[in-house]
Amino acid sequence: MSPPRKLHIKSYGCQMNVYDAQRMVDALAPEGFVETANVDDADLVILNTCHIREKASEKVYSELGRLRVARDEAAGQGRRMQIAVAGCVAQAEGEEIIRRAPVVDVVVGPQSYHNLPHLLAKAEQHGRALETEFPIEDKFGVLPQPAPDAIRARGISAFVTVQEGCDKFCTFCVVPYTRGAEMSRPVAAIVEDVKRLAENGVREITLIGQNVNAYHGDGPDGRAWSLGRLVRRLAEIPGIVRLRYSTSHPNDVDEDLLAAHRDLPALMPFVHLPVQSGSDRILAAMNRKHTADDYRRVIDRFRSASAAIAFSSDFIVGFPGETERDFSATLALVAQIGYAGAYSFKYSPRPGTPAADMPEMVPAAVMDERLERLQQLIDQQQSAFNKAAIGRTVEVLFERAGRKPGQIVGRTAYLQPTHVMAPDSIIGQVLPVRVDSLERYSLLGELASATSRPADAMAATGA
Ligand code: 5AD
Ligand code: SF4
Repeated sequence: MSPPRKLHIKSYGCQMNVYDAQRMVDALAPEGFVETANVDDADLVILNTCHIREKASEKVYSELGRLRVARDEAAGQGRRMQIAVAGCVAQAEGEEIIRRAPVVDVVVGPQSYHNLPHLLAKAEQHGRALETEFPIEDKFGVLPQPAPDAIRARGISAFVTVQEGCDKFCTFCVVPYTRGAEMSRPVAAIVEDVKRLAENGVREITLIGQNVNAYHGDGPDGRAWSLGRLVRRLAEIPGIVRLRYSTSHPNDVDEDLLAAHRDLPALMPFVHLPVQSGSDRILAAMNRKHTADDYRRVIDRFRSASAAIAFSSDFIVGFPGETERDFSATLALVAQIGYAGAYSFKYSPRPGTPAADMPEMVPAAVMDERLERLQQLIDQQQSAFNKAAIGRTVEVLFERAGRKPGQIVGRTAYLQPTHVMAPDSIIGQVLPVRVDSLERYSLLGELASATSRPADAMAATGA
């Protein structure tokens, strides 16, 4: 038997990329590849790139420069190191990468990961291989499933892609070009994936998609199911105690999803709902197809479904033409909603998107200053949200051993990391914790009851 070949994947960007990296590991496992944390040892290095913000491609080329050195050193020891570029930069700039970076053996777009073994073999024979088509077949149908020990090693929380691509065409965003048209996986395939994960110890599932609440996969009854219906079905699967979904668009929030929040204790009351700006003028220029008031109404609908729901969001500052007045409207919206956390970014033009050609770029210094003000406000809201947990008893799903001996770390419904001193047998269980203090972004506390509830008993409350 030949010794295992070593694979190192460096992932950038979103949760979809984290998930895709795992699927690439699964696709290459039958070829005898095992993961290594050390680039220098690797027989295959994959850069899983992100194109959404800032000089993404330049980062890839400088990383490739470093990899060339590692590859030459490996060659000096008589070892061949193959190098692949995957992800959205590969999709957007495949040909250019092949031209500019001779060190690269394989370029593979996000729709073609199931073909990786074939592409590597092709590169062995012909020197290079490129695949960035959007194939007709559903890549999920043909990607190998993770092995049980791979699932267990990844822990009790897992991502499952249910939807990919986006038809919204916000004017700043590359996703509709790099991930393609929106497509939803069939309900039965997702149910199978989640059952398999649950059987191997996974307790929490985050359903992911670029526009996840546009989900409309084929149901077993031959009709298109909404995300709310899908979640309701998944909550019935034994072992699954928590469900989440990300990322949502305000225009695709329907009654099924709200009803799921109202009815299902397993559906966590924490919703990532990007708004990008609080100014109607800028929202129109972004082609968001909603106003700030539309967004406020969506938030109100969620809150009427369940008062426990907290929100996070994404914001872009310095979109072309953004005035101080527009920016104040963003601050006003944040002040009014009150977020548990949010991400904010400086606008960066993405080649090929409509906004990249818009005049009136906001000067860098103005962007910096606005970003700072927005982040300060968001930080204050996040701290206030976290402080509010002190003195309360909160439900925590325990995930892993902490850094200190005897410490176990889990997360609350709102993804706040929570540390307690306890035996590691509590990993995988949801237990009440009395929170006594806050350390940076983490809650510190004690188990509120000595008796532990088995995870399956919690799942039974799901449906
Ligand atoms: N510039 C800055 N931020 C961007 N985002 C997407 N495209 C851009 C861009 N061109 C942000 C949006 C989105 C998040 C994933 O990344 O806020 O919601
Ligand atoms: Fe990009 Fe999200 Fe807009 Fe789709 S909805 S174009 S993924 S920002």
